[in-house]
Amino acid sequence: MAVERGQFSSRLGFILAAAGSAVGLGNLVAFPVMASKNGGAVFLIVYVLFVALICFPVLVAEIAMGRNTRRNPVGAFVALAGERSRWRWAGRLAILTPFMIAVFYTVVTVWIVIFMFRAFTGELETLATTNAFGEMIASPGIFPWFIVLQFIVFGILLGGVKGGIERLARVAMPVLAVMLVLLILFVLTLDDAMLGVRYYLIPDFSRFNGGVLNAALNQAFFSLSLGMGIMITYGSYFSRQDRIVSSSRLVATADTAVAFLAGLLILPAIFAFNPSTNPDDLSSSSIGLIFTYLPQIFLSMQDAVGYVGASMVAGSFFVLVFFAALTSLVSILEIPIAYMIDEHNFSRRKAVLIQAVLVTTFAALAALSFGMSPFLTDFIPYGGGTRSFFDLIADTFSEVILPLVGFMVCLYCAYRWRDGFVEELSQGDESLKGSFLQRYLSFSLRTFVPVVLMFVFINSVAQKYFAVDLLMVFAG
Ligand code: PHE
Repeated sequence: MAVERGQFSSRLGFILAAAGSAVGLGNLVAFPVMASKNGGAVFLIVYVLFVALICFPVLVAEIAMGRNTRRNPVGAFVALAGERSRWRWAGRLAILTPFMIAVFYTVVTVWIVIFMFRAFTGELETLATTNAFGEMIASPGIFPWFIVLQFIVFGILLGGVKGGIERLARVAMPVLAVMLVLLILFVLTLDDAMLGVRYYLIPDFSRFNGGVLNAALNQAFFSLSLGMGIMITYGSYFSRQDRIVSSSRLVATADTAVAFLAGLLILPAIFAFNPSTNPDDLSSSSIGLIFTYLPQIFLSMQDAVGYVGASMVAGSFFVLVFFAALTSLVSILEIPIAYMIDEHNFSRRKAVLIQAVLVTTFAALAALSFGMSPFLTDFIPYGGGTRSFFDLIADTFSEVILPLVGFMVCLYCAYRWRDGFVEELSQGDESLKGSFLQRYLSFSLRTFVPVVLMFVFINSVAQKYFAVDLLMVFAG
């Protein structure tokens, strides 16, 4: 049994922490890139529909599972299904997945820390050169920063749910919102920025294809931190007196709003930098965009605001991304920690230390797979190329597995738990029971949501490992 479980201090605390988890690199980096590649406004529309119709019910289901059982994902699946139940495997998958995501997310966050410091210390010009990023990731110079980051992250986690996670979110989220808005206002004043706004907001339906659907759903799932056990665990720290459904709605809205605003920042910046940008040419990798392309864009602003001004804008952008990444990283590392505390009776301190050693080891290996270690760099062939250790983890756990875990959450809540699920949603929210919304949630989780998630899972396996897109195959 649990030694001592944390709890968020209030509904607002929960919402900020959950939104802090949801708002991350997915919103600030991946979303704008996907939107630019997949037709701007078309992608935006599809994305919002998926968030509302498919992801929102799963978000509610995960939070309800956690809150009802007051357990980590393994505990949550077995508390309702029985110790010996095979559902335990679903829970295990929901512990392994966040661990693995933390491994690659840590590496990317280290890069962000480095770019942040270098932008502020006058190195923007170097960062904007085409080789800067490639050289940085292949250099052992990242390791001191890596250690610094680990101290920050695990220091916060030692502080616990209220004193660590929630406190961080209470500071980071407002700062993030203000910086985002200020940066957008600045970018919109640049010449030609409106070209980007137009591309982003006026749909071009000829750009729509099956690939957009899969990409949008994967992106929405990742962005809301679903299928990672996070919302189950955060739900377990959420008070029974508060309303799950309306709180979830705020989390989903905040996450989508930040993604939308990030698009409104980055697309206009791209067009201001190069008014004749052809969206097809935008880098296919999100990481490349942020680390190579954006510094060039920021540097080009020196004509308007001087080198120091441009460096400050670039530095602020990386602070913004860093805060977003930090709240996400903390949230994801909390899952295995909660598991050790709940299921193995560890003290928080001991769980945090074990987790720190494990993640640091794996993340160091992942960091070596950009050239420092040839073995890890050319780790495994699949999907038509040789992939690194980092790629293997990122592909598998940030995309392929998430819809599978989501699928199991749906089946579990809709078929195994059933009436209990509706009861849980109505706790603290009496008017919900029997309402249209409640019936929609139950119905969707029982029917089309798991079907769609299973399809996306299969399609993602085909795409990632075999370079085949089933949607394209069916559509001819
Ligand atoms: N929602 C997060 C994002 O968009 C996903 C995530 C959460 C990733 C936690 C890692 C850790 O970046």
